[in-house]
Amino acid sequence: MTNRLSKEQIDFYQENGFVQVDDVLSADELQEFRQYIEEAMQEENQNAIKNNAQNGSYYRVLNQKVNTWRDHGGMARYAFHPRFAQMARQLTGADGIRFFHDHALWKMPGDSKPTPWHQDLPYWPMDQDKALSIWIALDDVDENNGCMMFVPKSQTVGKLKGIDLVNPQDIFQFTKGTFVEEQRPVIVRMKAGSCTFHSGLTFHYAHANNTANPRRAFAIIFMPDGTVYNGQRHVVTDDCALTPGQPFAGGRFPRLA
Ligand code: SIN
Ligand code: NI
Repeated sequence: MTNRLSKEQIDFYQENGFVQVDDVLSADELQEFRQYIEEAMQEENQNAIKNNAQNGSYYRVLNQKVNTWRDHGGMARYAFHPRFAQMARQLTGADGIRFFHDHALWKMPGDSKPTPWHQDLPYWPMDQDKALSIWIALDDVDENNGCMMFVPKSQTVGKLKGIDLVNPQDIFQFTKGTFVEEQRPVIVRMKAGSCTFHSGLTFHYAHANNTANPRRAFAIIFMPDGTVYNGQRHVVTDDCALTPGQPFAGGRFPRLA
């Protein structure tokens, strides 16, 4: 599998704030990865963070687990895979890329709710704005089971307020009268084993899952080397001995590319 992106893909990301990259997993890797993520989602973990109770209203948006790598070596293999980090490095143009956290993101069948329009960066404890996510589809995704949508160029409006994913505010109220009103969201249907990258500033949304099976996705959040912890609360940093103003480093935030 290649880790080289084309100039067109890099230019598209820099202009639009997201890019689709097909076939980032081989068929064998996809099979293995699905097995690992099934195991990781079932296990009671010491270190991974499952932050939504079953049957709660959050669960209808997302059944999620953060930092699966800390309990499951197979998940660590994919979370730290240099292929993904090298792509993130090419997209951002950063000298180096560090790992922030991984994120198993399942949309469960049965009264599923969309993931409302939001930016990711307001939730992350950093002031720099070049961090980004890879979102890897482990199932084929379309509007019926929770594929993503992105607003092209919305990353240029800068960091807004964090949106409550259960009782969402309308993010577009913050961009009234700007070019964002005219932008058509792009629906990204993908085959399992393909991915998107999106900037922490890009407006994105995921459809509800109206099928009988979970929609399984895995995200990894990457940040340019030199990104600094700003002291904001976050599940990943709350138990770390980081002081505000300190660059992310060490074994929890390894440099991967
Ligand atoms: C989702 O997987 O439904 C949302 C992912 C994201 O917000 O980045
Ligand atoms: Ni998001």
